[in-house]
Amino acid sequence: MLKLGVSSWSSKYSSSWLLLRKESLVLIKSFRCKHRYHWGKQQNYITVAQMEKPPQKSPEVPDNNGGLRCAIITGVSKPYGIGRCLVHKFLEQGYKVAGLDIKSLENGTMEVQRDLQITSASKLPPDRFHFVHADISDPGKIKLAVKEAVEWFGGCIHVLINNAARTKTILDDEDPMKAFAETIAANLNGAYYLSEAVLPCMPPGLSSIINISSTRALQSEPNTAAYSASKAGLCGLTHSQAITLAGRVRVNAVLPGWINTDPAGEAALRDEDHRWHPVGRVGIPQDIAEMCLFLADEKRSGFITGQEFVVDGGVTKKMVYPE
Ligand SMILES: NC(=O)c1ccc[n+]([C@@H]2O[C@H](COP(=O)([O-])OP(=O)(O)OC[C@H]3O[C@@H](n4cnc5c(N)ncnc54)[C@H](O)[C@@H]3O)[C@@H](O)[C@H]2O)c1
Repeated sequence: MLKLGVSSWSSKYSSSWLLLRKESLVLIKSFRCKHRYHWGKQQNYITVAQMEKPPQKSPEVPDNNGGLRCAIITGVSKPYGIGRCLVHKFLEQGYKVAGLDIKSLENGTMEVQRDLQITSASKLPPDRFHFVHADISDPGKIKLAVKEAVEWFGGCIHVLINNAARTKTILDDEDPMKAFAETIAANLNGAYYLSEAVLPCMPPGLSSIINISSTRALQSEPNTAAYSASKAGLCGLTHSQAITLAGRVRVNAVLPGWINTDPAGEAALRDEDHRWHPVGRVGIPQDIAEMCLFLADEKRSGFITGQEFVVDGGVTKKMVYPE
């Protein structure tokens, strides 16, 4: 139960302190750091005003989306990639989707498409799917791309999934400085540029940003500095944005492990690849899409922001000894 802590009210109040107690959890507004609020135990702070006024839908964000929720998903070109699967799953749930990529939409073979429950690019419904061509590492292009998506949606954006990435993990045959800069520019800067561009169009309290990181943010093999640093950077971006945008937009990160996006489908995998995973199988794009659908849905995940969700079949929790 929430109780107003009045034990030493007058002295605290006169010295500009206001206390609210919930058992051992104390919410304090500190006038010493007027505009900086932190959340946690004892020494942490949140405004009373923030508690009394739940976030309202801003009248400034026009909503002519026909009542549909709208999502921008990046990195949708490849037919068996995580991005394309996200498109299908969000369409299935009734979203309007703008898919963004530096490359045009590719088709896949029917056999593998059936395997992954994916239909060809030409069958994506034109009234609910719109492709936007853009390089996410170019802030100017991103502004134009978001403008195009917003106009097509009808005014607002509820979900942004920063999925596009330079996915080459091991950079042993390139100029390492150039590769590092380009990887950070796409994987980390791109996510930031997009988030900044969509924010003015996100209805407060109804919106969600999901950054697709990687378990490589947590663990490495040799020569993966650029990719690992970019994915770890996304985790920092996630918690920073979650606090900056508190009450407006929830921001979370998904950290996939090994997700099979090989065009050969199941044929690309060996039995030992599956057995390596505590759950007994390699991941599929749908595993990531399910987590994103959950995080995008205010009703199911409205109490979750700033978090990292590892979706890896348990691999990062497995103890490994020398052979
Ligand atoms: N597949 C996995 O095992 C795995 C594991 C961990 C994390 N991830 C992450 O999941 C996401 C999707 O991975 P995937 O395996 O489906 O990869 P993918 O290569 O199929 O998809 C990446 C997409 O991003 C696009 N892209 C790259 N640079 C871009 C740019 N500058 N501007 C716009 N688009 C650009 C590519 O054209 C491509 O369509 C990535 O962020 C990846 O790092 C994947």
